[in-house]
Amino acid sequence: MENRDAELIDKILSLKKKGNAIILVHNYQLGEVQDIADFVGDSLELSQNAAKTDADVIVFCGVHFMAETASILCPDKVVLLPDIHAGCPMADMITAEGLRERKSELPGTIVVCYINSSAEVKAESDVCCTSANAVKVIESLDAEEILFVPDQYLGHYISTKTDKRISLWPGFCPTHIRIQPQYITNLRQEYPQAKVVVHPECRPEVISLADEVLSTGGMCRFASENEAEEMIVGTEIGIIHRLRKENPGKKFIPASEQAVCPRMKLITLESVLWSLQEMTPEVKVPEEIRLKAKTAVDTMLKVV
Ligand code: 13P
Ligand code: SF4
Repeated sequence: MENRDAELIDKILSLKKKGNAIILVHNYQLGEVQDIADFVGDSLELSQNAAKTDADVIVFCGVHFMAETASILCPDKVVLLPDIHAGCPMADMITAEGLRERKSELPGTIVVCYINSSAEVKAESDVCCTSANAVKVIESLDAEEILFVPDQYLGHYISTKTDKRISLWPGFCPTHIRIQPQYITNLRQEYPQAKVVVHPECRPEVISLADEVLSTGGMCRFASENEAEEMIVGTEIGIIHRLRKENPGKKFIPASEQAVCPRMKLITLESVLWSLQEMTPEVKVPEEIRLKAKTAVDTMLKVV
């Protein structure tokens, strides 16, 4: 580690202690940011941790919808997103107004929104889900007709696992669509012993080539529990840092080096430090929206 990083980390840890803060970090964050975390995980695990923490301040190293979810669950805490421009392009592919219009075309349909959505969109939805619990959430519903927003590929994947009728919204993750089926086929030839593990945000042609379709948290558990020594990883490449750190004897091959989420990478040690020094940028969901969105998040958390 460089001296400069060591200095930054010392300052971050001392401010964190002084402010009774917790640092929650998504699996796609830069390695050096993962290394200062109190907890690293997927969207579901991070929401569960936010909901139960007794810290006064949550420093959320992830993207905007994740910090919003923490604010929805913990209205009395200060939730910091070290770079306010760290948004999720997929979450921006739907607005509350657009969703209201679509709902009016499908009267009586239950709306399930992926957690990768704004608080306003969650407020217009009946329940939300993450990639870790999507099928379980859908199966728990006493309804046969479902509108799933905004990720068409996760929605398509769910539709292959349930008998319910799922209407889709045309959103997608610009990072995961960079993973091409040909990359998986080529890597399988190069590493015939490897397990292929992909995220459900990938396109169906990629998913159909995988051994396992898992959330990022599921991938980390799979890597440590499965006896396979090699794993081809079809998701954002930030996760490779954690996989290698937790499984030093195993080999992890990114399905595509281009599967990078630029917004996730906006958060750095410097921005974490500034955020703790200035107690900004804060993410706070207005109370009227928060209460409606919380119903959708709480309904999900009761299922898992
Ligand atoms: P999970 O970590 O919940 O699998 O989600 C992936 C993702 O795209 C988060 O933005
Ligand atoms: Fe959004 Fe995709 Fe980035 Fe996740 S990886 S934050 S879904 S753009």
